[in-house]
Amino acid sequence: MAKELYPEITLDLVRVTEAASLMSSLYLGFGNKEAVDGAAVDAMRGMLDYIDIKGRVVIGEGEKDEAPMLYYGEKVGMWDDESIEMDIAVDPIDGTRLVAYGLPNALSVMVGAENDKILCLPTFYSYKLAVGPELKGKLDLNASLKENIKVAAAILGLPISELTVVVLNRERHRKIIDEIREIGARIKLIGDGDIAGAIATCMPESGVNMYVGIGGSPEAILAAAALRTLGGEMQLKIWPRDEEERKKINLEEWDLNRIYITEELVGGEHVIFAATGVTDGDFLKGVKYIKGKAITESIVMRTSSETVRRITTYHDLKKKKIRIKSLDGDEKFINLNKIEDEGTSILKNKLFS
Ligand code: FBP
Repeated sequence: MAKELYPEITLDLVRVTEAASLMSSLYLGFGNKEAVDGAAVDAMRGMLDYIDIKGRVVIGEGEKDEAPMLYYGEKVGMWDDESIEMDIAVDPIDGTRLVAYGLPNALSVMVGAENDKILCLPTFYSYKLAVGPELKGKLDLNASLKENIKVAAAILGLPISELTVVVLNRERHRKIIDEIREIGARIKLIGDGDIAGAIATCMPESGVNMYVGIGGSPEAILAAAALRTLGGEMQLKIWPRDEEERKKINLEEWDLNRIYITEELVGGEHVIFAATGVTDGDFLKGVKYIKGKAITESIVMRTSSETVRRITTYHDLKKKKIRIKSLDGDEKFINLNKIEDEGTSILKNKLFS
């Protein structure tokens, strides 16, 4: 079916990330990462069925054996004869721990692209460098970090002391952090959620100029989808976490020394990226409740038109129903107005079962 349907389903993708965000936000601060993720996955699966696509999950919760839902290859969408074919990449929540502890920058994210245009990287982690439009094509992942910082500062017309680099706060980044400190740039250490960290480089109001470090490969792909439309860049190298993972990589297909860049990570003309904030972040506000309403903030963009929309949605709690599809095949509608009752029982199940 004709590709012109892409603009029409853009909003459908936002409804999916909104639902995942709303449901997971019920677990804000409960200290239970699994409950946060489970709620988002159930909501995503429920809402994906409403989209007029023949969807196939290519990045989700993992391989079928380890992830019973949103696994690689799972069919999602309506699958009518006329539905368009679409590969789907999801991160129901990037930053499950952030939601579990009420910390900033957690997002629900979804990407749709033409078939076979999303690269499925062979390793859990990648070594990544992300920048905004002004630095696109100007830095080199193979160069030293200090060299990249010097070049970036010169191009941006900033003293190095005013350049800000986002880094995941991990022991494996000790050398990276030391180098940034030695050269005198500012560091924004984040606990989790490097999709938001990478995208923030394209948002001038975030005050962030570069993202660097070793983080999740799926997260790299999802961020790359947004960076394509925003004019930024993702460079990455495959980063096996141990010898066992290194041995599993098919070296005829993958080159450990190669730098993969944005358009190779997510190719094709038609890419849609949608994200909804769960907790307040650098460029999206988190879910808020005011009397009778829940408010969500989302961003959605398409590569073909380069349109970027920010959507603030007021969900009427009396009327809002979220379709949930959980593992046991149970399909039900959660009425956000009755969330006190239903929510409590969901919480009990998830926390104590
Ligand atoms: P989850 O929400 O799936 O836990 O991922 C959070 C995250 O911080 C990602 O943003 C990041 O890419 C990855 O984890 C880093 O992995 P690790 O926590 O193993 O360093």
